Amino acid sequence: MAHWVRVTELDRCPPGAALECAVEDHVIALFNVDGTVYALDGVCPHQGGPLGKGCLAGRIVTCPWHGWQFDVSTGEHQVSRTIRQPNYAVRIEAGAVWVDLGSPPDAPATGE
Ligand code: FES
Repeated sequence: MAHWVRVTELDRCPPGAALECAVEDHVIALFNVDGTVYALDGVCPHQGGPLGKGCLAGRIVTCPWHGWQFDVSTGEHQVSRTIRQPNYAVRIEAGAVWVDLGSPPDAPATGE
């Protein structure tokens, strides 16, 4: 069942930016790629680093702790295809970013 929550104002995550947000009991990492906002589970599956504080280059975010890289549009790890960070549906409404926490992420993260 969908559970849309308002995460932040869109202008806090402009194109090219990453942003960490805590909402309910989730840490969400938002990424704005040329005006399209993506949301991943914000806790890196390696050792819990903050993906929302990572460096975003195009669609690739680099975890600030040890450099694991993920495609923010899919959650796919860039080296190991067996690792996929959970992602969430996003919608923009009246200048705010909403994320659906109710739908299960499309793939579970698996650490190595
Ligand atoms: S915690 Fe993210 S790469 Fe290690």
